[in-house]
Order: sequence, then structure tokens, then C-alpha cells
Amino acid sequence: MQNILIIGADSTIGAHLKKHCDAHGKTVYGTTRHANRCTETTFFLDLLNPDAFHIPYHITIDTVVFCAAMSTIKECEENKEKSYQINVTSPITLATYLKNRFNPFMIFLSSNAVFNGSKPFCLETEPPCPINYYGQCKVETEKKLAKITNKLTILRMTKVLHPDHALIKKWIHDLKNGEKIYPFTDLMLAPISLDMVSTAIEKLSALKKSGIFHLSGKQDITYAELAKMIGKKINVNESLIIQTQDIEPNIKIYNSLATHNTQKILSLLSQHHENVFSDLF
Ligand SMILES: NC(=O)c1ccc[n+]([C@@H]2O[C@H](COP(=O)([O-])OP(=O)(O)OC[C@H]3O[C@@H](n4cnc5c(N)ncnc54)[C@H](OP(=O)(O)O)[C@@H]3O)[C@@H](O)[C@H]2O)c1
Repeated sequence: MQNILIIGADSTIGAHLKKHCDAHGKTVYGTTRHANRCTETTFFLDLLNPDAFHIPYHITIDTVVFCAAMSTIKECEENKEKSYQINVTSPITLATYLKNRFNPFMIFLSSNAVFNGSKPFCLETEPPCPINYYGQCKVETEKKLAKITNKLTILRMTKVLHPDHALIKKWIHDLKNGEKIYPFTDLMLAPISLDMVSTAIEKLSALKKSGIFHLSGKQDITYAELAKMIGKKINVNESLIIQTQDIEPNIKIYNSLATHNTQKILSLLSQHHENVFSDLF
């Protein structure tokens, strides 16, 4: 029997993972920062006050998945002190507590933002080179966690697409109301689905294989291409989709990651964007 603790069970990935693990017969515990959502298996945790975190004495944990985070580049850039607390200091405090109490296998959800996006398919072995504060915090936490435990997987992911994704919902809403949208032609995504993420985490927690793993879509597509697919799917006039350049001419920002360990050890192949897209509707 595996006992999994999801730090941040209300997060998009954490909530999906909880359902996935429940369905696969695991014992799942979680954390929430909403006191009214606490139960016998869901414990209160505010990452701004991690010292107050406590797990009842009768409980045992063998895998911890770190999902809670300040998870947008913009919010991290605008709130550096708070994001450092939530994305670096508190996960390290928690990891230290959990290591001393349970010595569990830990899975830290990281991001392609540890790289600078100047080329596609960065390798697991490449040195990180983040260009934003969110990515810098991920790199720092990856390194600090590795000093606390060797029972650690760093799972770096590209963009996770799902029907509740804020940008997708806004595009669909605007297009259906006859409003124009302005997707970028130079910003790319290599999307993956929530099912893919939960499957990979479940496999990692079963195998307890330490190291760096990447999850990525099979290829980069532009946000403009994604918008066109959505426009076609909901049958709106293509003239509402105004392709826009975000950066300087001839520069593209890539999202994809090489997935050698994931393919070899987890036997998971990268997803084609059309398969991820079909889950959105
Ligand atoms: N989604 C992606 O495309 C993607 C890609 C690469 C990596 N990742 C990483 O994967 C992880 C999960 O991503 P996600 O998209 O599922 O995140 P998400 O939906 O944005 O959820 C973030 C969670 O963190 C919680 N949180 C924020 N501040 C907190 C605090 N002070 N104390 C306790 N909890 C706090 C939020 O709580 P509330 O629910 O109460 O607001 C929320 O549940 C993150 O580490 C993210 O960086 C995500």
C-alpha cells in the first residue's frame, strides 16, 4: 500500500492527482490552505507559515508530491519576496520536517522555466539557465531539495492544458461573443494533459526512481496555432484571431523538453498536441 501526501491538494494538478490516486487504490492525504476544507485526510497548510504544519501521529507517508506554489511567472515577478517564501523557503522547511519524520520519497513539480526557451527539447542533463524569477526559484528549490534527500524526483513539465485553463476559457468566451483575440506567433507551447501528469507521478511514486524527469508534448506549436485550432473547433470566423508578435522579429521562445528518462524508465511517450487538444472539449 502506498500512502501519498499531496502538498497543495487544491491545485489543478494536485486535485487531478488525488482523484487519479484514489481511483488506483492508493491512500491519499492532502493539504489545503482553506480551514473549512480540512478533513481527517486533508491537513491545514499555509506556505506562508509552514512551521504550524502538523500531520497527526498515527499517519504514515511514503511519497510526498509538492504541488502548491505561486505558479505564474507574472505573479512571481511582481511579488518576489512572497514567491520566494512560497516556492523556495517553505518547501525546504517542509521537506526537512517530512524527511525527519517519514524519510519519504519526494516528487517536486518543476518547470521548463528552468531553461531560457532559446531552443527546443532541452535535456535532463543540461545546466539550468532561467530568465525569470519563477524559473530561478524552481532551480534553487531543485538544488536545495537535493541536499536534503536523495530519495527525490524532480519532475519538470511543459504547459499543462485542461478545460479550466484561464487563457483557453477566456479565448473561447471572447470568440463566442464575437470579440477579437491576440495570440502570439513567437511564443510556443508543447502541451501535456492532466492525465499524463497524474500517470507519470503515479508511476514515479510506485517505482521510487530518483533523478530528473521531463514531461513534454511531442513538438512546439505557437499560441497562434492553438488559437486557430480552438477557433475551428468552436466554428468562429478566423478574422477574430489576430496573430500577434510578442518579442523581437526572428526570436521564438520554445517550451518543449527532451524526455529520455520518462520514455526509458516510465515507458511514457510524449503526447501529440492534437491528443491534448481533444481533451479540452
Ligand atoms: N500547470 C502547469 O502548466 C505547470 C507547468 C509546469 C510546472 N507546474 C508546477 O506544478 C505545480 C502545480 O501547478 P498547478 O498548475 O496545479 O498550480 P495551481 O493550479 O496554480 O495551484 C497552485 C496551488 O498553490 C496553492 N497555494 C498558493 N499559495 C499558497 C500558500 N501560501 N499556502 C498554501 N498553498 C498555497 C494554491 O492554493 P489555493 O487553491 O487556495 O489558491 C493552489 O492550490 C506548481 O509547482 C507549478 O509551478 C505547473
